[in-house]
Amino acid sequence: MTILLNNDGHWHARWRAAIETHMPGRAVVEFPDITNRASIDYALIWKHPPGDLEKYPNLKAVFSLGSGVDYLDAFPTLPEAPIFRLIDTNMAEDMALYTLYWTIHFQRLFGTYQTQQKQAKWARYPTPLAPDFKVSILGLGAIGSHIAKALARNGFDVSGWARSPKDITGVKCVYGKDALETILPKADVLICCLPFTKATYMSLDLAVLSKMKKGGAFINISRGAVVNEADLLTLLDSGHIGGAALDVFHAEPLPENSPFWSHPDVHVTPHMSGATNPDTAVQIISKEITDFENGIMPPYPYMREATCSREVKA
Ligand SMILES: NC(=O)c1ccc[n+]([C@@H]2O[C@H](COP(=O)([O-])OP(=O)(O)OC[C@H]3O[C@@H](n4cnc5c(N)ncnc54)[C@H](OP(=O)(O)O)[C@@H]3O)[C@@H](O)[C@H]2O)c1
Repeated sequence: MTILLNNDGHWHARWRAAIETHMPGRAVVEFPDITNRASIDYALIWKHPPGDLEKYPNLKAVFSLGSGVDYLDAFPTLPEAPIFRLIDTNMAEDMALYTLYWTIHFQRLFGTYQTQQKQAKWARYPTPLAPDFKVSILGLGAIGSHIAKALARNGFDVSGWARSPKDITGVKCVYGKDALETILPKADVLICCLPFTKATYMSLDLAVLSKMKKGGAFINISRGAVVNEADLLTLLDSGHIGGAALDVFHAEPLPENSPFWSHPDVHVTPHMSGATNPDTAVQIISKEITDFENGIMPPYPYMREATCSREVKA
């Protein structure tokens, strides 16, 4: 039984070590050093070259090493073998902590205090208690729902929006296009957890983001392509959006000349809010392969454009 490994060429030693620990007895072949394509049963991939997965005649299943699968949407063709995306609660928890950190930053005016420290200025301001501070989350999928629960557990007033109805303890869930308009004006902080698809591409533009409450903050941990960055800058410059914590961008690495780097109300992080951990990821995939071989489907099948449910068979 042989595993094809390609984490976009990165950290292969860490992935190989995790596979050797948690999948003993399985051989690992690192892409592109493949001598026998017919020997490959499973592929663990991230940003693999389009068209390659179709070249393994005995491929049983593909496991994407991350939750965002927009790179697969860009593949012109897909293999016959089913593809599963990785949902690791450790990663979701990391992302929840990232959003909690920035939510508290905006709630408690820590940006103002950082600026005041540079001026040796001692002044304090009243701030709302967590239950009076409204957080709206766009996207209540595997990650968005985890973030919503974590913020609610920490006492914030949390609303969430998805395409379909959801029931999450402590979270006011709304769905559908019209409902988006109802949660934007309330948000002290708006958190984007939407996937990047044709439907969401640049969907957070001037028309949508200007419906946010004046002075509200924006956190993006999903994909830069979901946001119209020029419109976001316009709203930041005018003060309509009071601050932003941005982990993801249209162009990554963020170009040196991007105005986001020096904007006084923007905090940039280098796409680090939810990194895949090889050790926990391989433990999850190992169990999913065992289940798959016993006819039990892994829980998160990749669906092209997140809309088309391909039928998946073991
Ligand atoms: N920054 C990082 O380090 C990092 C790490 C991991 C993931 N991510 C990003 O986070 C994103 C969200 O992850 P996830 O696992 O929570 O995604 P998911 O499980 O696919 O959930 C997507 C959510 O968005 C909603 N949605 C609204 N409009 C949609 C549309 N037009 N198309 C598809 N979904 C729509 C869905 O509604 P329904 O539930 O009603 O379908 C669902 O609630 C990923 O796609 C990835 O880009 C970033």
